[in-house]
Amino acid sequence: MRASLGLSKDKLLFRLSKLNAFGFVRKSEHGYTLVTAGLDALALHSFVQRGLISGMGRSIGMGKESDVFAVSSDSGKQAVIKFYRIGRTSFRATRIKRSYSTPKSHQWLEINIDAARKEEEGLKRARGVNIQTPSFIARDRHAVLMQEIEGVMLHACNKEDIDNPARLLRQIFGEARKAFVAANMINGDLSEYNILYDGEKSWIIDWPQYVLTDHPNASEILERDVKNIVSYFLRKFDKNTDLKRALDYVRGALDSL
Ligand SMILES: Nc1ncnc2c1ncn2[C@@H]1O[C@H](COP(=O)(O)OP(=O)(O)OP(=O)(O)O)[C@@H](O)[C@H]1O
Ligand SMILES: [Mg+2]
Repeated sequence: MRASLGLSKDKLLFRLSKLNAFGFVRKSEHGYTLVTAGLDALALHSFVQRGLISGMGRSIGMGKESDVFAVSSDSGKQAVIKFYRIGRTSFRATRIKRSYSTPKSHQWLEINIDAARKEEEGLKRARGVNIQTPSFIARDRHAVLMQEIEGVMLHACNKEDIDNPARLLRQIFGEARKAFVAANMINGDLSEYNILYDGEKSWIIDWPQYVLTDHPNASEILERDVKNIVSYFLRKFDKNTDLKRALDYVRGALDSL
């Protein structure tokens, strides 16, 4: 689609060459293509314009599929921006995991925007039933602005940091149960890598792959989530949990664990 920018050709080419020098667009034989850094700049610009952020801080997480940064706002609230980066690492693994057909380079931008949209939906849905998950603030393109949780990834916690593993396990399954029973959703990537521990309780993060409980593969997906947690607690704390009981509890078929 063509849109009129109200710029002369010379001015347009001058501006594009500047954007190219910043690394926001890439020159190709057909013209210029927006690239990830350009999409980042557009999202940041929008958050600033909307008065949501005023500064960027340190990098706090570099996942397989995202970069997470601390940001500051004039209101002083702690927040993070998660920029989606699907396709940056293993293209093949991503394609298999998400069953995409072969994307062209600019289609990665769309894929990342879709993932951010899905995370927005997941966060809102989960928070809607009071799950301990970051509160959603805003989204622009492939970037999700959310509450910063002051916690450590469960995987990185030392054994000694967690004084009551049994209680933590019950809390995690309590959250998964709330998701399943009250919001009809399953995180779909629940593991010690997607749980932050704040010294007292757990926070479930990372929702772009959530599924609804009527998804055709819901029971396998739920079982995988529950298994991940059961085996983590067995490995780390030597704590045995009956998988069937845990599954029934999360599904709401059992009142206590
Ligand atoms: N709201 C938040 N508050 C504090 N830290 C966060 C928050 N969201 C993400 N992080 C940090 O960023 C890391 C990556 O986040 P997340 O798991 O959502 O992304 P990811 O790219 O999907 O990770 P992966 O694909 O490796 O599981 C987390 O492990 C955590 O350290
Ligand atoms: Mg993650």
